[in-house]
Amino acid sequence: MNLKIAVLSGDGIGPEVTQESIKVLKTIAEIYGHNFEFQEALVGAIAIDETENPLPEKTLNLCRESDAVLFGAIGDPKYDNNPDAKVRPEQGLLKLRKELGLFANIRPINAYDSLLDKSPLKREIIQGTDMVIYRELTGGIYFGQKKISEDGTVASDLCEYSKLEIERITHLAFKAAQTRKKKVTLIDKANVLETSRLWRRIVTSISREYSDVTLDFLFVDNAAMQMILNPSQFDVILTENMFGDIISDEGSVIGGSIGLLASASVGNGTALFEPIHGSYPQATGKNIANPIASILSASMLLEHFGLNNEAKQIRIAVDKTLKRNIVSVDINKETPSSTSQIGDVIVQMLLKPDETISE
Ligand code: IPM
Ligand code: MN
Repeated sequence: MNLKIAVLSGDGIGPEVTQESIKVLKTIAEIYGHNFEFQEALVGAIAIDETENPLPEKTLNLCRESDAVLFGAIGDPKYDNNPDAKVRPEQGLLKLRKELGLFANIRPINAYDSLLDKSPLKREIIQGTDMVIYRELTGGIYFGQKKISEDGTVASDLCEYSKLEIERITHLAFKAAQTRKKKVTLIDKANVLETSRLWRRIVTSISREYSDVTLDFLFVDNAAMQMILNPSQFDVILTENMFGDIISDEGSVIGGSIGLLASASVGNGTALFEPIHGSYPQATGKNIANPIASILSASMLLEHFGLNNEAKQIRIAVDKTLKRNIVSVDINKETPSSTSQIGDVIVQMLLKPDETISE
């Protein structure tokens, strides 16, 4: 298969972890005879430094004409601590999501058997967790009108959803549930928010088209508690933009590190694949960041194009690496491996498929 992949590695540890997933994708291309072409472009704080624009036109055009985007991370403390900044790195990612129409962000969360004791949660609680969050990505409070009064003392962010925005991601979530444990949980705040009540009405109505899937509801405050009290109750979680942002970071505790969580953002055209973690500025350039979230995002990229076996081989290689305790400092403080060592080991495991499969 020929794939044109735009590489937007961004800020902080973004370039380091993305480099490892490119290494892995190149290995897959070599083994299976695919032709993956990588083209890099600027986004985020580094794009602001060089062009004063967090998403330069050139970057957006490259993404539009590519089959997929491999995204690293975005963000820089010099903006985080400055509420008066006129342009912010995050605007680059938000605009990219909007421009590419990436309305659904898919975030799988699993407990790895080999890491059950790495989570601060008890192993009995997290064992068997296998859920996927369908987070709406181009609507809600992130994109509603923002206002600040002239004297700077009152501000507002509008949370708005339309029927169409809710419908399209709901269908994706139900279709996913049909291939999994056949359960969708809608997370909202319908006891308070009008938008949540609209979600409930529309999702309930669509659920009738999927008679093999059960639908239940949780208020987001209770959901935040249930996520860590009893995570294995979940299959597909469907939720709006900001609730999805918050509960997915919470969910990362289950797997043992946020450095393991990958995501796919899909819509009508080019899809984007990115770790859910941020730019982790303290680790930049130290070769200590966990590349697995990025490598698993590359695996989701392959799956998106129907390269299911290739995607699976990456997951198997990652599992084996974790089992052998070849992990970064976020998971193993005593004898950590470096970012590039982990990438190299995964590449080696892919190149020796017999060993990879036999374990
Ligand atoms: C994420 C991030 C982004 C978000 C930021 C960087 C804008 O936290 O992808 O989860 O809030 O969506
Ligand atoms: Mn987030």
